[in-house]
Amino acid sequence: MADTAPDAITLLKDDHRAVEDLFKEYEDAATPAAKAKIADKIAVSLIVHTRIENEHFYPACEGKVDEADLKEAYVEHDAANVLIAEILASTKGDDFAEAKVKVLKEEIEHHVGEEERWLTGIFSQAKRHGVDMDALGVKLAEAKAGYEADIAKNGPEVHLAALKKTKVAAE
Ligand SMILES: [Fe+2]
Ligand SMILES: [Fe+2]
Repeated sequence: MADTAPDAITLLKDDHRAVEDLFKEYEDAATPAAKAKIADKIAVSLIVHTRIENEHFYPACEGKVDEADLKEAYVEHDAANVLIAEILASTKGDDFAEAKVKVLKEEIEHHVGEEERWLTGIFSQAKRHGVDMDALGVKLAEAKAGYEADIAKNGPEVHLAALKKTKVAAE
């Protein structure tokens, strides 16, 4: 895997493009059943992406990326996770299912913008300040493959629960 893993930014950007495609597929899907299936795929891909950012990418950015920007990004992850959890739990009877996916899409668009923004975004800052993107890419690819395999086998719930990041210290 070490020889074939993309660098960290390429891997994360590929994830962003893949989930954007899924949101488009969701909009184009003709039936509620097809939409529900795609919504689950969106949820799983965002859970895996958020885990590898929270556990590997953002920690590597500490001291290299503006602290306030990183904190904001963690809070945006947690905010998105509220909707991701509801989308995963939603049944056919959820009249708000489409609205939830739409709002999640808007949240993710904003968040991806903050990560990818030229010069001032998190990715630009990290690269400019010397985060080793090749080594990190290997770690991200390994973690991603592991989480995807586990979710395929055991479901996403455990991984969703592991995402909450912005606890207050006393908890
Ligand atoms: Fe991201
Ligand atoms: Fe992120």
